[in-house]
Amino acid sequence: MVNEDEVSRKVDLLLRPPPVEECIYCTEPVREKPLTKTRLIVFGICGATFVGVYALTVPFLAPAFRKICLPFVPATNSQLQNVLKALNGRKGTLLDIGSGDGRIVISASKNGFKGFGVELNYLLVLYSRFSAWRNGVSKQAQFLKQDLWKTDMSKYENIVIFGVDTLMPGLEQKFDKEITDTCRILVCRFPLPNWHPVKVIGTGLDTVWIYMHPRNPEYESQKLRKPKLEDLNE
Ligand SMILES: C[S@@+](CC[C@H](N)C(=O)[O-])C[C@H]1O[C@@H](n2cnc3c(N)ncnc32)[C@H](O)[C@@H]1O
Repeated sequence: MVNEDEVSRKVDLLLRPPPVEECIYCTEPVREKPLTKTRLIVFGICGATFVGVYALTVPFLAPAFRKICLPFVPATNSQLQNVLKALNGRKGTLLDIGSGDGRIVISASKNGFKGFGVELNYLLVLYSRFSAWRNGVSKQAQFLKQDLWKTDMSKYENIVIFGVDTLMPGLEQKFDKEITDTCRILVCRFPLPNWHPVKVIGTGLDTVWIYMHPRNPEYESQKLRKPKLEDLNE
């Protein structure tokens, strides 16, 4: 005989939705916790923190993964003073290659130069623009997010570079092709490998070498001995 109660219990069991998951240690169903407002806020804060940390650190870490690693190391005060001394008697346009926080371009602009900075790190570009505005030279100092290798050097009368030794051979070739005869190049920390400087300002790590293109008629008479990196370790 059909037991109606039994049949209705079985039908009821069949129609009941299955538990979402079962605990692996017991047979208790594990129910999904609903997305409460608090959990949503916590997820939101975690996501925003991750995006913020990523956006702030990647521009500074990215140079380490390039073929030539040129990290952000700002010029020291004495290096900056040596650059300004090296610019004595010069005027016109000035380009800082890899302009960092803009300190060289801004100081030069305050001294009457039309300053330009090219920099890969967009956070540093934004900071430099802000700093130029705060120093009252936003019209005289321009900063671009741009790769130094894609920058046309022929437009500038003065060029400053604070680079690394591995950068200098390629940069010397670029200067050779692009700069004008009257341009002066101010090189901080790591000298050019083949050209002779025509003037040296300062000593040690803050030395600034001044170069002109070897095809400049004055080069032969003004050239000094080529610097050696060992000279800097004093
Ligand atoms: C040693 S720091 C010099 C900063 C600044 N010129 C100063 O003296 O204070 C070099 C700068 O070059 C930037 N840089 C690295 N590779 C670059 C590239 N390919 N094009 C433009 N800038 C670059 C770095 O982000 C860094 O800010």
